[in-house]
Amino acid sequence: MVNRFTTLYRHIIEEERKFPEATGQLSDLLYDIALACKVISLEVNRAGLIDILGLTGEENVQGEAVKKLDVYANEILTHMMRIGGHACAVCSEEDENFIPMEDKFSHHGVLNKYIVHFDPLDGSSNIDANISIGTIFSIYRRVSKDGAATLEDCLQKGIKQVAAGYVVYGSSTIMVYTAGKGVHGFTLDPSVGEFLLSHENMQIPKKSKTYSINEGNYSKWSDGIRNYIEYVKQNDKETSRPYSSRYVGSLVADFHRNLLYGGIFIYPADDKNRNGKLRLMYEANPLSMIVEQAGGRSTNGSNRILDIQPTNLHQRTPLFIGSDEDVRLAEKFLAGEKI
Ligand code: AHG
Ligand code: MN
Ligand code: MN
Repeated sequence: MVNRFTTLYRHIIEEERKFPEATGQLSDLLYDIALACKVISLEVNRAGLIDILGLTGEENVQGEAVKKLDVYANEILTHMMRIGGHACAVCSEEDENFIPMEDKFSHHGVLNKYIVHFDPLDGSSNIDANISIGTIFSIYRRVSKDGAATLEDCLQKGIKQVAAGYVVYGSSTIMVYTAGKGVHGFTLDPSVGEFLLSHENMQIPKKSKTYSINEGNYSKWSDGIRNYIEYVKQNDKETSRPYSSRYVGSLVADFHRNLLYGGIFIYPADDKNRNGKLRLMYEANPLSMIVEQAGGRSTNGSNRILDIQPTNLHQRTPLFIGSDEDVRLAEKFLAGEKI
């Protein structure tokens, strides 16, 4: 039975106590991210009113609100990291280069020791249609000993993440995170403005009957992907086929549904996007840490996402993520195995 009054902050502090060497910086950092996401949640809820109320102070230009919210989310997250005093660099899908942070706001002269990566607004093309969108984040420890953060600090393998999470701005706002000891979900109670524990120790079903892929790209796929998708659509009661197709077009929303109900999400390489479309640092790594913590699997079709050494902040990767057995089977099809 879930304790209905466990706030996010209390939970992250209790989680951090499981690590005896912890200083409390990570708890504060996670709380700062949650606070920024509460502000973004408010703005997302008001998005449809922007043209009516003139909230942006801009001309009434179709499409402007989408860009605004993207930029806004990026700014508030970066600002919160700057004044929070725990991040020595922020890397964002919206910024070409990483943003170093000075230690001047750090507490008690302690070095800011974390690197934070964001996809500030995921699924941004869905904003105007009232479809769920989200924020994805990922936290690493700096590797350099002192001075300004370096690119090397920012380009670490996903396996080095100390925490990762996302927020879905959906029918309700939910934050899901892991600090390496399970995956936990907190639903925002808007009346008290607190994230309250609603999903403790989330586990993704080992096998599913749902696939999520942009099937409009069929003509650009390799034979392996085509054969897999043909397979899940065939009729076979014993293996729960045909699978259902579910594709929101916001990765966070598709991922969250699959985490709860089971499913496989695929964004493969194709003729046009030789490395897929999604970003390793901002999207694939954080969701891969979460899915593994929840008992699922995540690869680029052959290799574990978390083991990829990044060489570029904005590099892309094919992504196969979700229920363990489904991802394994997709990999077999990709390798050309006869099923
Ligand atoms: P973003 O809004 O951060 O640019 O991400 C969009 C991504 C992801 O959320 C989604 O799964 C994918 O783009 C959808 O791509 P297609 O429209 O090509 O299916
Ligand atoms: Mn995205
Ligand atoms: Mn984005």
